[in-house]
Amino acid sequence: MSQYPALRLRRSRASAWSRRLHAETVLTPADLIWPVFVTEGSAEEPIAALPGVSRWGLQGIVERAREARDLGIPCLALFPNTPHALRTEDGREAVNPDNLMCRAIRAIKDAVPEVGVLTDVALDPYTSHGHDGIVDGAGYVLNDETSAVLTEQALVQAAAGADIVAPSDMMDGRVGQIRSALEANGHVNVQIMAYAAKYASAFYGPFRDAVGSRGLLKGDKKTYQMDPANAEEALREVALDLAEGADSVMVKPGLPYLDIVARVKSAFEVPVFAYQVSGEYAMIEAAAAVGAGDREALVLETLMAFKRAGCTGVLTYHAPLAARLLGA
Ligand code: PBG
Repeated sequence: MSQYPALRLRRSRASAWSRRLHAETVLTPADLIWPVFVTEGSAEEPIAALPGVSRWGLQGIVERAREARDLGIPCLALFPNTPHALRTEDGREAVNPDNLMCRAIRAIKDAVPEVGVLTDVALDPYTSHGHDGIVDGAGYVLNDETSAVLTEQALVQAAAGADIVAPSDMMDGRVGQIRSALEANGHVNVQIMAYAAKYASAFYGPFRDAVGSRGLLKGDKKTYQMDPANAEEALREVALDLAEGADSVMVKPGLPYLDIVARVKSAFEVPVFAYQVSGEYAMIEAAAAVGAGDREALVLETLMAFKRAGCTGVLTYHAPLAARLLGA
């Protein structure tokens, strides 16, 4: 009986109301986290590698937070373009309580406290070599020395008002250390979103331009970020970060790693986020620019794909466009 012609799956697709009624997945502005770049000064600085994305000074960042609020986007992710004169071997500017990042957090929390602020915990925007941690003489990123600095960095960000600290460095053991330090310092409600499965990816190029680390980076990040060949290892990374106290986990990059999202979601049943990274954004923009696809349709389809795969939310530079399209 469950055969054609009794069964025609096209029946439910025949009209718009019915397609809406049968939709298994919904996408709303509340699913979006908007990554924004902060810089010194007050001029808007367009980023050539990310058409449509700019770095903003503190005033501009506050305006972006207001825009997010008005569009129904719950949270901003902040990334600093640290002045090059302040970048050192050890990245010590990362733990300066008055650094650009902390001033941006405070400015947003003073003006628009109802918008969540997520901060990146890693040293790459602060080091003279562009790596996420402290390197030894051979250029190897030292795990435990780096984790100690990252813990301090997370504390400084939490003290400035960060709502979610997001370690993106892939050191072993840092989530537990950050959680203990947050608890010991009274930041019991500051969340940790662990970049749990972060791959050594070719899709980060435009981001490195945006935070000014591309030209500085020596070598690659393969000794700490994951091999794109691996999936089981991602599950181990997620298990460890959860055991250490992560409130949510992230998979990064996004679209090429939806299999990882789906496996993590089904294995752990915890909040899973994905980062549709700079290179993915740039690919959509490039496709739209040459007429290979419609920008708005590509943006909404890719974001829906993240939700369908099991994401609780998505970090995307297209957040304001998507929120507008979704009619906040
Ligand atoms: C650095 C960091 C990176 C991104 C977010 N945090 C780059 C890297 O690991 O080299 C990439 C985001 C993007 O490409 O949009 N810790």
